[in-house]
Amino acid sequence: MTYAHTQQAAPPRLFGEAFSESPAIVHAQLSDAGPVAWAEIAPGIYALVVTSHTAARELLADPDFTRNPGAWEALAQGMVPPSLALMYAGGLQHTDGAEHERLRQAVDDSLHSIDLHGVRRTVRRLARELIDAFGHRGHADLMAEYADRVALGTLADVLGFTPGDADHVGRFARTIIAAAPDAAASSAELAQVLREIVAAKRARPGADVTSWLLAHPARLDDAEVERQLAAMLVLGTAPTSAWIGATLHLLLTDPVYAGELVGGAVTIRQAMNDTLSLRCPVANSSVHYARYPKVLHGVYVPPGTPVLVSHAATGLDPSRPGRHVPRDRSHLAWSAGAHRCPAQRLATTIAETAIETVVDALWDLTAPVPAISGRPGPFQQCPAHVGVLFAPEIRRKAPDDGTARRL
Ligand code: HEM
Repeated sequence: MTYAHTQQAAPPRLFGEAFSESPAIVHAQLSDAGPVAWAEIAPGIYALVVTSHTAARELLADPDFTRNPGAWEALAQGMVPPSLALMYAGGLQHTDGAEHERLRQAVDDSLHSIDLHGVRRTVRRLARELIDAFGHRGHADLMAEYADRVALGTLADVLGFTPGDADHVGRFARTIIAAAPDAAASSAELAQVLREIVAAKRARPGADVTSWLLAHPARLDDAEVERQLAAMLVLGTAPTSAWIGATLHLLLTDPVYAGELVGGAVTIRQAMNDTLSLRCPVANSSVHYARYPKVLHGVYVPPGTPVLVSHAATGLDPSRPGRHVPRDRSHLAWSAGAHRCPAQRLATTIAETAIETVVDALWDLTAPVPAISGRPGPFQQCPAHVGVLFAPEIRRKAPDDGTARRL
């Protein structure tokens, strides 16, 4: 049985203009039809989507499901657009068992070697340069002019890329995560740039993630290292900048934070955590396939059908344990199980430092635009713009000692 054999009326679409403008409405429709419901993820391509926290936890821990997309019938038949296959059938997150363990160990160890104090310094330096560039103007789009650049610049730096490489790979990564029509071309160009970077690091290693991956005892070959770098770039840059942008928007517009904002580290951490539930940056991912015919929370899952977790919907699940508790950490924004995000500490360090630095330097920030519309693609949940105003005439250069100061 596939979607065509079910009684569910036209299932919600996880693509197109309506979805990118109001993803929350589509996630709510899926939740109403859930906890496991059909969605159209590309024209004529259907998947089951899990929206309840309990069902998602169950799926993420169930060995009867594989991450290997070899069983995806529509993919084997060449029906899945390459743009979607890149995000939903490729990369580290779609390997299983011993193969995944070996690659994951190399990724974990390399990410663990990162000096997070150094990361804080890099974020502050990049943040100062960006704020200096728009600070005289009195207005800015904190997505394109700040969050995107600080996330990409810092990640590229820890991976060992030059700033020139960063601009290149950032453009490709954005196209891939948006499942844009030219994603396949971008993926080929990204692979070419990464091939050159890996060859250069083989010849001259440095203190960076690329060199640590190359030197890891798991003995990854160059192609394997290139694929792990692509996974980190694509899965790392967009969610981190989405987290920065969405948290800033929440801090500036949500009455819960009104009057409490500027500079309070506790407030910022609370808003960052709330964002992971309310506007989860990775919206729909963690694609599984049943190894055998299965029933998941009363819904028949035919082998060969993709089953996604809507992290955006599970974050809002009212029955989630801890959902209404302050400092709740029960959300699945980082996923769970063998494929949980390996970069939580890194992403948190980048996002927290970036948010602290900009609210400290631009202490009179306001965000006059009430609603934010999203960036395209089913994978991400990211404000398209975070427009802000501030008084330009009282601005001076943020100090270089990392303790951005009110002027
Ligand atoms: C706010 C920031 C981030 C969020 C919310 C986030 C969330 C996630 C989620 C939900 C997954 C599971 C995806 C799946 O199974 O399909 C994941 C996996 C992954 N993330 Fe992150 N991530 C973030 C930042 C980063 C960064 C900065 C990096 C890179 C250094 C990164 C690298 C990865 C990798 C390589 C995987 C695949 C892990 C595996 O399959 O074993 N992420 N992330």
